[in-house]
Amino acid sequence: MAGGALAEVIESRADGFKPGDLVFADTGWQEYATAPAAALTRLERAEPLSHLISLYTIPGLTAYFGLLKVGQAKAGETVVVSAAAGSVGSLVGQIARIKGCRVVGVAGGAEKCDWLVREIGFDAAVDYKAGDFHKALKAATPDGVDVYFDNVGGDVLEAMLFRMNERGRIACCGAVSQYDTATPRGVRGVPGLIVVRRLRMEGFIVHDFYDEAPTALADLRAWAASGQLKVQEDIIDGLENLPAALIGLLAGENRGKRMVRVVTDRQ
Ligand SMILES: NC(=O)c1ccc[n+]([C@@H]2O[C@H](COP(=O)([O-])OP(=O)(O)OC[C@H]3O[C@@H](n4cnc5c(N)ncnc54)[C@H](OP(=O)(O)O)[C@@H]3O)[C@@H](O)[C@H]2O)c1
Repeated sequence: MAGGALAEVIESRADGFKPGDLVFADTGWQEYATAPAAALTRLERAEPLSHLISLYTIPGLTAYFGLLKVGQAKAGETVVVSAAAGSVGSLVGQIARIKGCRVVGVAGGAEKCDWLVREIGFDAAVDYKAGDFHKALKAATPDGVDVYFDNVGGDVLEAMLFRMNERGRIACCGAVSQYDTATPRGVRGVPGLIVVRRLRMEGFIVHDFYDEAPTALADLRAWAASGQLKVQEDIIDGLENLPAALIGLLAGENRGKRMVRVVTDRQ
């Protein structure tokens, strides 16, 4: 299985890497991996080390660039994010709040929705599993939606298209509702609502913006240090628990970034 990991260099014949260096690497699901130096991203130590996975690599950069570069969110606008209690989603909502937006999360279950509002600082949250999602979404977004950060696709995306304001932006980050289904489906409203409401719907991959990572990382570090950004982590121990951890992630078991610790941290 492919899998991105925070890893420590044990041995290197490449210039610039020595034992003890921390790197982000596609190690796969295993305790040891070999990789060409060009495929490694060097990481500065952070406290706790787990933030190198939950904030300072893919989740933080995806949330930051997807919201601000693709979504072009501006102060005073309404931002909705799906899979809001997850790793990327919980950061998207908090960054949007920092930027002065009104933020509504979409998540599965009352407990996750309460947590988003009470502890993470979302203005509202809608449980897409509770029934009459369209009505609840309308009540939570009385002024319509300017930016929708889409992590899930499917039914939630379809409902969101009907809530978008003219010139709204949909940042297509992922389609988790479609990853594990036997009945993948399209979405009504494409292209009709895109045309009539002059929407922009744009997909992106976090790597597209890596040239600008230093600016993003400086902001993320400052917000985390000041307490404006809360980083929720969901760590499971043991390589043998990786399959169950992935299945549980797709079933919505996680809150924040789900990670599996393969070896004990050496601080
Ligand atoms: N474009 C990029 O560069 C990039 C980079 C990283 C991640 N991504 C994408 O971003 C999305 C979020 O990733 P993540 O790592 O932060 O995962 P995550 O949100 O931490 O976990 C996935 C969440 O998806 C929700 N979910 C599962 N099935 C669903 C369904 N049928 N409908 C609606 N929600 C459902 C679950 O929460 P509930 O309990 O709320 O259902 C689950 O907790 C994924 O689509 C991922 O592929 C894209």
